Amino acid sequence: MSPYAHITGWGMAVPERVMTNDDLAKLVDTSDEWIQSRTGIQQRHIASDEESTASLAVQASLNALEVAGLHPNDLNLIICSTSSPEHIFPATACLVQDRIGATNAGAFDLLAACTGFIFALNMGAQAIRSGSVRNVLVIGAETLSRLVDWTDRNTCVLFGDGAGAFVLQAGPQRSGVLSAVMRSDGSGGDLLNLPAGGSRLPASEETVKQRLHYIQMNGREVFRFATRVMAQATEQVVQAANLTLQDIDLIVPHQANQRIIEASLRSLKISMDRCVINLERYGNTSTASIPIATCEAIQNGRLKAGDKVVFVGFGAGLTWGAALVQWGGPFPGVRQVLPFRFRLYARFRSLARRILRRLDALVLGRYREDL
Ligand code: COA
Repeated sequence: MSPYAHITGWGMAVPERVMTNDDLAKLVDTSDEWIQSRTGIQQRHIASDEESTASLAVQASLNALEVAGLHPNDLNLIICSTSSPEHIFPATACLVQDRIGATNAGAFDLLAACTGFIFALNMGAQAIRSGSVRNVLVIGAETLSRLVDWTDRNTCVLFGDGAGAFVLQAGPQRSGVLSAVMRSDGSGGDLLNLPAGGSRLPASEETVKQRLHYIQMNGREVFRFATRVMAQATEQVVQAANLTLQDIDLIVPHQANQRIIEASLRSLKISMDRCVINLERYGNTSTASIPIATCEAIQNGRLKAGDKVVFVGFGAGLTWGAALVQWGGPFPGVRQVLPFRFRLYARFRSLARRILRRLDALVLGRYREDL
């Protein structure tokens, strides 16, 4: 029988620096009252110059591995979902792989905007279900503060930085990820996009002048789309697991806007006390929002082993999706993981590999000249 993908570890990381709505009102023509009443957001965390998507992802990943009691070199696969990668390439997942010392893992990035974590979770789970891997690290990490136009009040008030990660492990019991829904509609790609910097519009003086390297959004249309698909995806994922909405203990939605979440739950006839919301403190951290909200729900005792939880999200693409998970916890007999030690060891290993690569090139180079 195919193994199931159990979630055995979880971790999050957010930058220390906090930007309140009042701080934003000093940058653009907005107010705390407007932002709170339209979105529910009170503050967001913003990366410092030393922080980046990979550094937040590394911290969240080590926290998740510590909970799971899994050493980085036990990982077979790392999927990093992000729309604000460190570079176009190499993948941010490879930087994380190197920095945590996951010597046996393949690593790649996945881009499905704010729905990315759900897609990544499902891909990780399917890799386990297929029997080809046993231990997967799924990350959602963003520093969208680097991609928003800080002069555009329509977008800059919405987003925040952060990262979250889950460890998935193969287990025989029917638990963990039970079903998932993944959908997209590219015809709405222009509603939320970052036009330049890719192969279609490479960076040029003109693209910079036209501010095409920043997020652009049609807020009203995204709002309408989001309220429709959140309810749809939730119903579909529950059906796919042969369950009903009454069987669901908790919903962890993408944390974009309180009004979107409320409207979706209203149409599902689910009360707000079965839903996790923490966007007032983090803003929309895109693909990191669901794992961050999950970590807090566990911390607050709202999500417990045995609970059935639906993760549901939407985002640019357009993309949307949901995953239904029977929550578990670390497998018994876990080993102690000391994140600090692994970080140090990984840094040393990475340095040693770079030096060896140089030496190798030097020796091989001489060898070629000799021929
Ligand atoms: N402060 C003050 N006024 C603002 C503002 C801000 N930060 N942002 C926009 N406004 C203004 C607009 O310019 C507009 O003024 P106008 O009528 O003079 O043109 C007015 O507020 C109303 O704009 P509107 O777009 O109708 O507001 P809204 O109620 O739809 O709320 C959003 C705007 C962006 C909060 C809302 O549409 C939304 O949340 N959309 C979804 C966005 C999202 O979640 N994106 C991420 C997807 S993963």
